Amino acid sequence: MRKITIAIDGFSSCGKSTLAKALAKQLGYIYGDSGAMYRAATLYFLDNDLDWNKELDVKLALKNIQIHFENIEGKNTTFLNGKNVEDDIRTMRVSDSVSPVATISTVRKRMVSLQQEMGKNGGIVMDGRDIGTVVFPNAELKLFITASADVRTQRRYEELLAKGWNVDYEEIKMNLLNRDHIDSTREDSPLKKAEDAVELDNSDLDEEEQLGVALGLVDALQKN
Ligand code: CDP
Repeated sequence: MRKITIAIDGFSSCGKSTLAKALAKQLGYIYGDSGAMYRAATLYFLDNDLDWNKELDVKLALKNIQIHFENIEGKNTTFLNGKNVEDDIRTMRVSDSVSPVATISTVRKRMVSLQQEMGKNGGIVMDGRDIGTVVFPNAELKLFITASADVRTQRRYEELLAKGWNVDYEEIKMNLLNRDHIDSTREDSPLKKAEDAVELDNSDLDEEEQLGVALGLVDALQKN
């Protein structure tokens, strides 16, 4: 079967990474977590007291940031300059600053080229905000995932609680809504549904049902 490119976009915490990982596993494809790249870049700015509003600081950061992924015990794991930052990049500290960082065009340019390099041979499922519109505009399958803000908040809340973290539901909800606003209104590569994307509201679907729908679409494509 030919290896295709699958782009999954959507609002914060809509379950796109859960679906992307499950699809990649099922199809034997690479999983690309584009959000983790913006999060890792944000962590670098924060840890090094660099200001993303200052051009020189952005230049310095981009010169020094190396991001790669490794599969550790079956889990896609993010590394920044050789250090495992998978947990650090999911903290509220990073979540609160990532969307402003992701508005910076030079940052986006670097991340997009990394993402395109990862997907140059196809056989990839990547999730994010601009995957179907900018990163892989020719992807064979594009999904745009939606779910209500309360469903999305509850999912993120449970995910962080499961890590044993002390989290506040309202703080998470504010963060998701705030990021959605910044991501949808920024000038460079705003979050929007690609014209040829299939919209999937997963508010009432469990993970398995969602995977079933997506695999059905892949199957239909392979038969064409
Ligand atoms: O997991 P969640 O949906 O909450 O977010 P994420 O995928 O980890 O992405 C974190 C942030 O990175 C987003 O809110 C965007 O600001 C930015 N991002 C982006 O601008 N473009 C992408 N392709 C992916 C993420």
